[in-house]
Amino acid sequence: MNKEELISLLGKSDTYVSGQELCEHFGVSRTAVWKAIKQLEKEGYLIEAVNNKGYRLLENDEMMSGTEIARYMETSTMGQNLIFHSETGSTNLDVKQLAEEGAPEGTLVVADKQTAGRGRRGRTWISPAGESIYMSLLLRPQCMPDKASTITLICALAIVEAARELGLSDCGIKWPNDVVMNGKKLCGILTEMNAEIDEIHYVVPGIGINVNQNSFEEEIAKTATSFYIESGHKVNRSKLIARIMYYFEENYKVFIKTYDLHNLVDKYNEYLVNCGKEVRVLDPKGEFTGTALGVNEEGELLVKTENDTVVTVYAGEVSVRGIYGYV
Ligand code: BTN
Repeated sequence: MNKEELISLLGKSDTYVSGQELCEHFGVSRTAVWKAIKQLEKEGYLIEAVNNKGYRLLENDEMMSGTEIARYMETSTMGQNLIFHSETGSTNLDVKQLAEEGAPEGTLVVADKQTAGRGRRGRTWISPAGESIYMSLLLRPQCMPDKASTITLICALAIVEAARELGLSDCGIKWPNDVVMNGKKLCGILTEMNAEIDEIHYVVPGIGINVNQNSFEEEIAKTATSFYIESGHKVNRSKLIARIMYYFEENYKVFIKTYDLHNLVDKYNEYLVNCGKEVRVLDPKGEFTGTALGVNEEGELLVKTENDTVVTVYAGEVSVRGIYGYV
């Protein structure tokens, strides 16, 4: 019996599906149906079984699995080759390995827990099970390596679009690629690339999202927040992943026409929380403050300094802080 098909059948029906119906559909015995249902329950699905009525799939927002993510997926490439791990070292490393083995563009690795999660600038990304999303995507863009950093901005854009759709209507982007809400970080992105001087082999954006946590350990509590803390309701992680893939695919199609933010820049700036705000640019060549005006088509931040000159800030070189805090 095909497990995915069984879930999909139960999921589509808003009432009970009788054992008889399932037997006929799959051409198997009642015992085989019952065994398949027990297997799904073991995986975490909540299934109500009522005599003379049949089986009904109940919503379980805590549940994340490959089958569940695939059930919500509405893409043609991104996330179609989906690998789910209950536990792994780092999804970025998994995808890099798959890329070396020839995996197709759009391959997505999702984990419930990471034991060696990595953040930007060599930091660790604390990755316990049950409440977060850890995922990495394989892309093979045919552009020059200097264009690859824009992909991170497009990821941030897709995350904001998906999160807003699922109820976090005020979240935004802290340039270049953190997704934030009320001045705190909801999501981080670590993009890695394997390239030669003039050719990209592959790009791997790795996304970590705080979803259903109700608190954080002291070390990060001042700067981190979660979807649950901000919205007051829990979110189905599988659905959120599928919606992010949907928006990412849409934006990526636009991106690969010109390999810049042409046609995406207005949407990006609309969600940019730094826009019009005072920022401190932590440039290794010398820090300065100014007003952020938005990004240009290359994804660079335009900052108007105190003497009214507009400086273009490139994401790879510097980070930006609000003058009163993280945003
Ligand atoms: C940051 O420092 O803001 C970026 C954090 C990126 C974390 C994600 S979780 C999934 C993927 N796998 C990793 O090891 N890191 C990224």
